[in-house]
Amino acid sequence: MQKLVVVKKMKVLVFFVAIVLAAWHCHGSDHDHDHGHTYQIFPLRMKTGHGGHYIPEVSCQSWRLGVEAHNVIDWKTVPQDCEGYIGNYMLGEQYRSDSKIVNQQAYFYAKTLNITAKTAWVFDIDETTLSNLPYYADHGFGVELYNETSFNKWVDLGEAPALPESLKLYKKLLSLGIKIVFITGRPLDQKAVTATNLKLAGYHTWEKLITKNTSEYHGKTAVTYKSTERKKLEEKGYKIIGNIGDQWSDLLGTNTGDRTFKLPDPMYYIS
Ligand SMILES: *[C@@H]1O[C@H](CO)[C@@H](O)[C@H](O)[C@H]1NC(C)=O
Ligand SMILES: *[C@@H]1O[C@H](CO)[C@@H](O)[C@H](O)[C@H]1NC(C)=O
Ligand SMILES: *[C@@H]1O[C@H](CO)[C@@H](O)[C@H](O)[C@H]1NC(C)=O
Ligand SMILES: [Mg+2]
Repeated sequence: MQKLVVVKKMKVLVFFVAIVLAAWHCHGSDHDHDHGHTYQIFPLRMKTGHGGHYIPEVSCQSWRLGVEAHNVIDWKTVPQDCEGYIGNYMLGEQYRSDSKIVNQQAYFYAKTLNITAKTAWVFDIDETTLSNLPYYADHGFGVELYNETSFNKWVDLGEAPALPESLKLYKKLLSLGIKIVFITGRPLDQKAVTATNLKLAGYHTWEKLITKNTSEYHGKTAVTYKSTERKKLEEKGYKIIGNIGDQWSDLLGTNTGDRTFKLPDPMYYIS
């Protein structure tokens, strides 16, 4: 019964909006009138299944948007229902396309700047320069709880492929004369394998590769670690003009860089 009342109210509202829009249109410019446009307004409709149940594709898309906009925070795993959705997203065209937009905008911005010998751009590594998708595809795309042991085994193989759109940005920034600095949450003891992996994936040079001293930053967040390292960098005279990462913790805090670029990552959250 209550639903029926809501539906009726909605209908009245839609009708009212339609009248207002029609009136507004009639008072619109003569130019519009000449073309005789009539705009059809469709009511905003929820896409739900029988009996009003959620369709996972719809609610998982909302969840992903919430994650990317940093409205959904401190989550430990991808919702169980969203494994299929996230898997399709990551392996399909959308992830590549979303990454491309971010990297393109970064380049459009970078090429307008005056570059000096101390102009730096900060790249995160995991899900920014190197992709762990081969690992996550075998572990439920983030539905499974993070397992440090098995993830480290994967990292130690040194076989992570490049994110193709990020590699393009990297090459373009280098050609502009910008210094590349990698700051990663990977620990010091993975520095060698990370360097080898970066080269294998096509990242052949860099100014600095900063890995995490886990005793120095024990119990500290990624925001603290990365801010501190960026601060040290700027104290050495570097000017961070751009900063790109897949986690908000790559981009928040201090010394963030003149502009930050958030790559998509619906598989895990690091604070
Ligand atoms: C770059 O340098 C030129 C010459 O010094 C200056 O005119 C211009 O405003 C600078 N552009 C930016 C974006 O700083
Ligand atoms: C984590 O991965 C290791 C190595 O693959 C495995 O032996 C262990 O059982 C896993 N732990 C959990 C909690 O799944
Ligand atoms: C890591 O941090 C600890 C504690 O601050 C320090 O004693 C050590 O020298 C650091 N290691 C390196 C390689 O910088
Ligand atoms: Mg990352």
